[in-house]
Amino acid sequence: MLPAKRQSLTTKLAWMLTGFAFVVVMLSSWILDSIDHYHFTQYIDQNRDMRNQRIANVLAQAYERDHGWESDTGLDVARLSSLEGVNIQLCDITHRKVWSDHSASPGNASDTLPIRSGGTTVGYVEIFYVHPDSFSQFDDLFQQAMNQGVFTTILPVLVIALGLSWFLSRRISRPLVEMNQLARQMRQGNWGLRIQEPNGGVELSQLAESLNHLSEELQKQDMLRRNLTSDVAHELRTPLTTLKGHLEALIDGIWTPSKQRFETLHAEVERLIGLVSSLSKLNEAESDSLDLNRQQVDLARLTRLTVELVQPSYRQKGVQLDCHADSMIPLCTDPDKWKQILLNLLDNALKYTPETGRVTVTVALRDETALVQVADTGVGIAEEHLPYLFERFYRADRSRNRSTGGAGIGLAIVKKYVQALGGSLHVESNPGDGTLFEIHLPLRGGPRRDTGKTNFGD
Ligand SMILES: Nc1ncnc2c1ncn2[C@@H]1O[C@H](COP(=O)(O)OP(=O)(O)OP(=O)(O)O)[C@@H](O)[C@H]1O
Ligand SMILES: [Mg+2]
Repeated sequence: MLPAKRQSLTTKLAWMLTGFAFVVVMLSSWILDSIDHYHFTQYIDQNRDMRNQRIANVLAQAYERDHGWESDTGLDVARLSSLEGVNIQLCDITHRKVWSDHSASPGNASDTLPIRSGGTTVGYVEIFYVHPDSFSQFDDLFQQAMNQGVFTTILPVLVIALGLSWFLSRRISRPLVEMNQLARQMRQGNWGLRIQEPNGGVELSQLAESLNHLSEELQKQDMLRRNLTSDVAHELRTPLTTLKGHLEALIDGIWTPSKQRFETLHAEVERLIGLVSSLSKLNEAESDSLDLNRQQVDLARLTRLTVELVQPSYRQKGVQLDCHADSMIPLCTDPDKWKQILLNLLDNALKYTPETGRVTVTVALRDETALVQVADTGVGIAEEHLPYLFERFYRADRSRNRSTGGAGIGLAIVKKYVQALGGSLHVESNPGDGTLFEIHLPLRGGPRRDTGKTNFGD
């Protein structure tokens, strides 16, 4: 279980994106505001100088019109101050106050300009600003409107950024969330789920593909494990039931002990021993601990000797067994494993080839590989069985094989041994015409070293 405090990926991403958007919005607002403020201050300075000069000029004209400072000059000043959005105080040349705007606040910034007429200074005008930054009333209103504009846009932009962040983070994290769900399902043994290919980039697609593959593999392995248990139980039950039945009949006196009865019992015990031995060979072949004892051998000779071993059973059934392995094929391989491969194939060929049939073993050199073929003229295998032939406990025809006594392990061992020796295995068959097994063994060794204990690759 995850600690309760931990946030989901979506929430984390959303907070990160929101934080990012917030920083970007605030930073750009601050930059915009600074740029605005700089240009606005420049504009205000120019404007103030021009306005102040204009006020001084108007007062100079009033002075010239009235031939001195009159009390009604104050009316011009009052009109001017309200027009220009400033407060004004007019003084004569001796700095004596002629007229003053009463609302002037002495705490605010001010500028004093001389009033010139006919080339001489005739008085002074002191201009008080309503704002500490020398702004006029209108400049101040304008700046307030600008600041308000910036701040009222920040809020909706932030809300939009928040919404987008949640949307994006859900989109980005959805494939990962799905993969996480799949992995958790897999942990609980539910292998059936698969992820749709996400559209979040190559890496995510590859990750989804790998997870799907892993899930499929685990599902397959789980199925094989279940089948293995039931198959082993089934294979053991048949001979044991026969043995039990026969022994009970003997104990109850239904059957009298005879050589033939004991031979039947012996055959069943042999079958059990054979099955257990096949199972242990399969287990060894499928485990990581398959040791190879490679030696330099002549594959042709080794094959001939193995073929000789099974000749008696072939003769007994009336199936002809030929071996074409004349030229020497030097190869570094494990002779015991190779013998087992051939014995399993020849055992099958004999089982599934009727009397008067023919089995041919051929060993030849093909480029850098030794090519070994075991061909029979037996019953053949239907095409739909071919892909599963090398799986353990698989039998092409269950009812038929029950009579021949096969457990479906032989070819699984063959496949694992051939892979361990670095070779490859193919089968071709036509029902009624016979079957051909073909093995390619590389002359220069295989993927496994003599004492190597590595995994099998399929
Ligand atoms: N030469 C062949 N001709 C026809 N069918 C074959 C031949 N070889 C194998 N098969 C089919 O492939 C199945 C699997 O073969 P495999 O050798 O693994 O098992 P088996 O012979 O039935 O049992 P085991 O080898 O464990 O005693 C067989 O049951 C049979 O149906
Ligand atoms: Mg077999």
